[in-house]
Amino acid sequence: MRSDANIAGPMTDPVPGPRTESTGADVSRETPPPMDDTPIGRAAQLAVEALGRAGEGLPRPEQTRVIVVANQKGGVGKTTTTVNLAASLALHGSRVLVIDLDPQGNASTALGIDHHAEVPSIYDVLVESKPLAEVVQPVPDVEGLFCAPATIDLAGAEIELVSLVARESRLQRAIQAYEQPLDYILIDCPPSLGLLTVNAMVAGREVLIPIQCEYYALEGLGQLLRNVDLVRGHLNPALHVSTILLTMYDGRTRLASQVADEVRTHFGDEVLRTSIPRSVRISEAPSYGQTVLTYDPGSSGALSYFEAAREIALRGVGVSYDASQAHLGVQQNDPSMVEGVQ
Ligand SMILES: Nc1ncnc2c1ncn2[C@@H]1O[C@H](COP(=O)(O)OP(=O)(O)OP(=O)(O)O)[C@@H](O)[C@H]1O
Ligand SMILES: [Mg+2]
Repeated sequence: MRSDANIAGPMTDPVPGPRTESTGADVSRETPPPMDDTPIGRAAQLAVEALGRAGEGLPRPEQTRVIVVANQKGGVGKTTTTVNLAASLALHGSRVLVIDLDPQGNASTALGIDHHAEVPSIYDVLVESKPLAEVVQPVPDVEGLFCAPATIDLAGAEIELVSLVARESRLQRAIQAYEQPLDYILIDCPPSLGLLTVNAMVAGREVLIPIQCEYYALEGLGQLLRNVDLVRGHLNPALHVSTILLTMYDGRTRLASQVADEVRTHFGDEVLRTSIPRSVRISEAPSYGQTVLTYDPGSSGALSYFEAAREIALRGVGVSYDASQAHLGVQQNDPSMVEGVQ
């Protein structure tokens, strides 16, 4: 099994100490920079150090898991969850493709992928039947992570798709024809339940719903769940809500824990034990074209996405998650994970 070859590398040569050879008075005696001074090298090294599990990979699924990240409510953390889970899984040695299905192109931006109007994009795949392989780009900072970008063209696709043959299953067909080996495909949906989201639900087996821990969190979820049922009934019998992730959790507020309790009562086992804290680092990372995993690997946001990815990977191979084994004690609803309270 391929393990964390890409993250174990830097660990074999940690930051070297000061040079021992004699130096002239004109030579700086500063600690030299790390030998592996690439962004990914540094990021991976820090991440692995922070997790304290050098070289430990995650189990990879036998078949590609296609996970649809959906919630028609805007701004609940769909894109943030997609890119950070994808980066976490890739840093653990998996091969991961992010499909950006939102005309805003936020996932493409966050992954540092060029998506101006002329770039071959998921629009060409859906509307022009271009092979997926011709639009997929490697993500610069993370080995094993790839992105099919969205451009502004996609804004017209909801309408253009209506008159096309097999309009609901065009993404599914494109994915089936894609021959590169992948462990995970994560699809970032727009905040609507139109044909783009239906295409994602026909293409995937699993739905991951990010829920923001705030008032009205559960409003509108009924509609989303009904759509999942409809797609399962008519177009994709394998589709199911596999995962609920609580996002922007602020353990200092009673409201957040009330919402979390309500969601856990309602959904039970689908809810990940790990919730994602509200974190400045998470919100800053996209403006640098990075995930929080490379932007600040030791931050609470990065650690919690790593932990959520671990839960998802373990569930995929039928291993139950033991929260007491969480890296650095990242626990569900842990107030100490909220920045500023640590
Ligand atoms: N855990 C977090 N802590 C702080 N800010 C966050 C967190 N998660 C997401 N955000 C911020 O909240 C905003 C909305 O997040 P995001 O874009 O991921 O939501 P979305 O559901 O994809 O939105 P849309 O429906 O518009 O596609 C972004 O500015 C993002 O940086
Ligand atoms: Mg989004």
